[in-house]
Amino acid sequence: MNTIEARVEELLARMTLPEKIGQMWQIHGAAPENKEFIRRGQVGSCLNVIGRDAEAFQRVARAESRLGIPLIFGRDVIHGFKTILPIPLGQAASFNPEVARDGARMAAHEAAAASIHWTFAPMVDIAHDPRWGRVAEGCGEDPYLAGCMGAAMVEGFQGSPVTTTHNGPKAQRAKAQKNLAKPGSIAACAKHYVGYGAAEGGRDYNTTLIPERTLRNTYLPPFKACVDAGACTLMSAFNDLNDVPATGNAFALRQVLKKEWKFDGFVVSDWGSVTEMIAHGYCADEKEAAFKSARAGVDMEMVSPSYSTHLEKLVADGTVPLDWIDDAVRRILRIKFRLGLFDRPVVPEIPPSVILSHEHLRVAYRAALESCVLLKNDGCLPVAAGHKTIAVIGPLANAPADQLGCWVMDGDQEAVCTPLLALRLVLGSDCLLDSPGLRNARDTGRVQFDAAEAAARVSDVILLFLGEDAGLSGEAHCRAFLELPGAQTELVDRVTKAAAGKPVIAVVMAGRPLVVQPWINQVSALLWAWHPGSMGGAAITDLLLGSEAPSGRLPISFPRTVGQVPTYYNKKNTGRPPIEGQWGAPLGTPLDPKDFTSKYMDADFTPEFTFGFGLGYTTFAYSAVTLSRTSLKPKGTLTAKVTITNTGTRPGAAVPQLYIRDLTATATRPLKELKGFQKFTLAPGESRTVTFDVGSEELAFWNGDMKFAAEPGRFHLWIAADSTCASHPPAEFALL
Ligand code: GLC
Repeated sequence: MNTIEARVEELLARMTLPEKIGQMWQIHGAAPENKEFIRRGQVGSCLNVIGRDAEAFQRVARAESRLGIPLIFGRDVIHGFKTILPIPLGQAASFNPEVARDGARMAAHEAAAASIHWTFAPMVDIAHDPRWGRVAEGCGEDPYLAGCMGAAMVEGFQGSPVTTTHNGPKAQRAKAQKNLAKPGSIAACAKHYVGYGAAEGGRDYNTTLIPERTLRNTYLPPFKACVDAGACTLMSAFNDLNDVPATGNAFALRQVLKKEWKFDGFVVSDWGSVTEMIAHGYCADEKEAAFKSARAGVDMEMVSPSYSTHLEKLVADGTVPLDWIDDAVRRILRIKFRLGLFDRPVVPEIPPSVILSHEHLRVAYRAALESCVLLKNDGCLPVAAGHKTIAVIGPLANAPADQLGCWVMDGDQEAVCTPLLALRLVLGSDCLLDSPGLRNARDTGRVQFDAAEAAARVSDVILLFLGEDAGLSGEAHCRAFLELPGAQTELVDRVTKAAAGKPVIAVVMAGRPLVVQPWINQVSALLWAWHPGSMGGAAITDLLLGSEAPSGRLPISFPRTVGQVPTYYNKKNTGRPPIEGQWGAPLGTPLDPKDFTSKYMDADFTPEFTFGFGLGYTTFAYSAVTLSRTSLKPKGTLTAKVTITNTGTRPGAAVPQLYIRDLTATATRPLKELKGFQKFTLAPGESRTVTFDVGSEELAFWNGDMKFAAEPGRFHLWIAADSTCASHPPAEFALL
């Protein structure tokens, strides 16, 4: 038995039942009366207690409780601590796991300097519905991309030496956790386990009905990637999962996570989700909630006190076996030992000087640069030098708090570089005409419209900064409509008309995809910046002025209208697939069976922008894919190859994406699935041949017999610039 396991067992053997149950409770806040709970050994963790308060609580735990077991301090360091990164959806748009890993590493250092040991991130809930406010916190609609980005964040937070390759996470868990006890590493928490993003109607906390095969093929894989990357903890979700709340769901927690995946960390419930099972109608009272959560495999209860209040009696009367308690406490102690909490000093080993350091701001700048996605450009970008006057219009041009986005607990608004600030620093103020047009993102007043129109009239280029305020996305912030809020659409109309044909460049900061019709037809270019974080303004300015080029790709599809939701690229074909361009139903149309396909009469069935799409300042040519073989033995691999050439006049990032379709199987399969991607820069005229290896790992799925297997048969394969895979017909191969 290794040292840590021996130390766990030795300590566990000395613990009383109340002390064991104490480890299973996470309390909230730094109220002084919490010290008494800690002194009595009734608390294993605190959330939202940082800095000096955390040090004080830790001293009580170490010096005044009977066994001196250290507390583990948790906090939502979702996309940065004080130096704020783009929202995770934006980081996913970078299609670059290094961006996610470096960002998480930076965030971990800043959090560790504030005595935080554990972050409740990454969130890897697959989401097909942009109405859901929490789509901002996740990594988009695709299981493979979410898995790669989530695993990279885990590695960044936990200081893993293992790198996530673009062919998917290959980390060995023990190796991945070897730096956990080093200063600057904090425990990760993959959340919200599981299926939370499938909330009906895009309404947070709502019901989720997910067939097991879909759960295993779509919603579980990103969590498995995080567990394989060594995630120390997972968080059970709020949602009712197939009639059993996720926090009381033994199938998900004990069967899949702990038994099948052999996860040896611990599970914390989401805030109050244990006792919310009463409201779900799954538990009669807190006592039953404690029983059903413990039975399901929740090891630590966040905030609600049902474990602390009822578990001792439930063990005494035989309802809860002592084994459940010992297993939970073993897991918690194991992570505390792996983090080095028993051995490290109470005061942080990372100096506060790292916070908002130039190096950290540089990390945030690069993340913002790589997360922006160019969705339209009529050639006006990059903005040519030498323009006399540039109008800077819109409510997001100088909105520090909104630019940071949701889930910012400790972000420093003073340290935010907004687009207006950056433009002034780069171009000077003389050539800028700053006219917000609206007081904030939701303002419906038109009083400033005249000034905005006047600015547009006298300027050579108009920059329009639009989007959502931070409060319009995140937890419990769901929207039934996806248009620009407030009077922004009218602002676009008035300004573009006043511009009278001069370039109008829209930059949108938002926590989700939005409906961009009809105003997108009025603007010359559209750059999607998500909520880009502390250095968003600097990154956007460098992209608009051309010292950098956009390289982001969409991690989530954009619907043409909210009526299309859910929109996602990896959908099924159906028995009557719609035909591109086929829609509409002229009056008096005879009922012609040929039109009876899965389409709308009043909207194009395809999305406005598809998963994986993004433009740059150059163009690329993709050769046809070649395969090293067209028939594959069960344990063999083939190599798919394509040559990509920069056919433009500027350097640019290519993001070749590998998609595969299983044409016939024992369960219906998606039209295509992302199975790999790469990202690299090519100079004008430069070519690069890229390869992807394909084997049973890329082809396996949970099949008609509910077995994870690659089935013999024909497959299509693309290596393309986005999920439309329009450049060439697919290559075909057979698995024997
Ligand atoms: C919230 C969120 C969860 C967060 C936790 C602690 O309700 O659902 O993501 O980590 O509570 O703040």
